[in-house]
Parts: sequence; C-alpha cells; structure tokens
Amino acid sequence: MTGASPATAPRAGRTGIRLVRVPNGRVGAVAVHEVAETVADHPRAVLGVATGSTPLELYAALARRRTHGLRTDAMTLVALDEYVGLGGDDPRDYATYVRRTIATPLGIPDDRVHVPSGTTDADAAAFEHGIAGMGGVDLQILGIGRNGHIGFNEPGADAASRTRIVSLDEVTRRANAEHFDGDLDAVPTHAITQGVGTILDARRILLLAAGRGKAAALRAALTGPVSAEVPASYLQRHPAVVVIADDDACEELE
Ligand code: PGA
Repeated sequence: MTGASPATAPRAGRTGIRLVRVPNGRVGAVAVHEVAETVADHPRAVLGVATGSTPLELYAALARRRTHGLRTDAMTLVALDEYVGLGGDDPRDYATYVRRTIATPLGIPDDRVHVPSGTTDADAAAFEHGIAGMGGVDLQILGIGRNGHIGFNEPGADAASRTRIVSLDEVTRRANAEHFDGDLDAVPTHAITQGVGTILDARRILLLAAGRGKAAALRAALTGPVSAEVPASYLQRHPAVVVIADDDACEELE
C-alpha cells in the first residue's frame, strides 16, 4: 500500500456524479431501473457486481425483471473482491454469494462469472487480464464502507491501484463480523480486491448507499476533498457516476 496522495479541492457541481436521493427502503427498487436499462440496451453487457447487504434488493428486483422478460442471461459478471483464506465451499465467500445471489437467479452460466481469487501477484494480474480481455466493465455496481472504502480498497489506497492482495481494516472486519456469527476472529484478515484504478476504468458506475452508518462516508466521498483517506472520493474523478442513496445515508449532506 502506498501513502496518501495529496488532497485536492472538490470541484463542487462539476464532478461526473449525479446523486439520486430516495426514501429509506427504496435503493434497490430505484437502482434496478438503471441496471435494467443497460441490460435491455446491451444484453451482453459486462456487469461489475458488489457483494454485501446493500445491493441484495437490486439483485432480487433484477431477477423479477427477468421473469417478466428482461434478458439477463447473456451478461458477464465481474466481482470486486474476495476474502483470502476461506475454503472454496465456505458460504461466506464472495464467489458463493455471486453465484447464489446473482448468477443463478439471472441465469448466467459459471463460465461468465469472474470473481478474483488467489493470494499472489500473478493471480491478481490474471484477473486484470481477464477484465481487459472481455473489453472492460460496462456498469460497475458499488457499495461504500463506513470508512469510505470501495471494494476492499481501504483508507490509504492509491488512486492508481490495481487488483492486489490487501489487509482489511479493523472497521471493515467489525462490520463484516455479523456474517461470521459476530466472531471477529473468524473474519479473514486479508482479501484480494480490484484496485481503485481498476474500478475507475468501468464505463459507468452506480454507487448504492443505505443507512445512517454510511452518512459520514457518503458526505466525505461526495463533498470532501479527493483523498486516499476516503477511497470513494476518487469517484469524483470519474465522468459517469450515479449515486443512489436513501434518506438516512443522505443525512449529512446539505
Ligand atoms: P454493505 O457493504 O452493503 O454490506 O454495507 C458495503 C461495503 O462495505 O462496501
């Protein structure tokens, strides 16, 4: 991990970010319109998928669209990140999440589901090579961590970072302990994640945020300086970002 790059002043109103504020409980229902439009226009789209709780309703809504005729099974899925050290059959690993929660309900076969894995630089490079080979990500769905992380790019992550092995922040491990029966010691200490630079290569980005716990991070990401201390603030440098955030997550915004 490299040191923090210098903060730059926010270009208020001139970033590529469009904020859509929605009532609590409506993030997925609104986000599905954005995703369904992309899929309808480009059935073979490469969809970058986030794991975590926030996008669950979006994925469920997308599957419902499929039952009403939206063609989702020609897409390719690319995941952001994966824990290091869980067994391949562990229900908490993100490959399992992506298959069970997204790929299967959308009818996407295994050979078009790409989740980073492994522990070496060569594994990371192979994943990057794979994304390049499919022509890049058309639409990247993102969540935001309480500490402002995107993927597992924790505070301090460099803007130019690529897929790599990282150690997880204490804040992240505590937040994710709920999926490990509350046992912090069971939460992996390392992960493989797309880098900030990898994420910013996506043509369009859809960031989802829900709940009071994300309010400070969202404020810092959207209105603060672009800074390694808040990796989501790098999104201010991307030309096409839509943020869908509920009232609670918007609580600290003007
Ligand atoms: P969450 O995770 O959707 O489970 O809150 C988001 C994140 O940590 O990036």
